[in-house]
Amino acid sequence: SSNKIINLKFIDRNGEELKAKAKVGTSLLDVAIDNNIDLEGFGACEGTLSCSTCHLILKKENYDQLKPPSDEENDMLDLAYGLEPTSRLGCQIIVEEKMDGWVFVVPNEVADARS
Ligand code: FES
Repeated sequence: SSNKIINLKFIDRNGEELKAKAKVGTSLLDVAIDNNIDLEGFGACEGTLSCSTCHLILKKENYDQLKPPSDEENDMLDLAYGLEPTSRLGCQIIVEEKMDGWVFVVPNEVADARS
């Protein structure tokens, strides 16, 4: 059901592993906020697809299990620093049950496309 909770992790800019409880159906940006994960500048546009500060790097095997990003997400990703082939925007990834145990790396540098 949509109330299901799974466990996932963020790796922050210091390489620290941050465990998070993630509600299925919410975005990874919501998860970071709900878990009080303190990532400076993360999610600056509050999920309106206009900043790229919610940039996350996925493991290849996980990336491949997600639907490809929309054109709008790709356009915004182009503005992110440290882009990787498996980069996504956290506000555009909706938690699914299969993500239990997944790890999301927060890149070192942030670019706020609005500035
Ligand atoms: Fe701004 Fe995701 S929070 S693009």
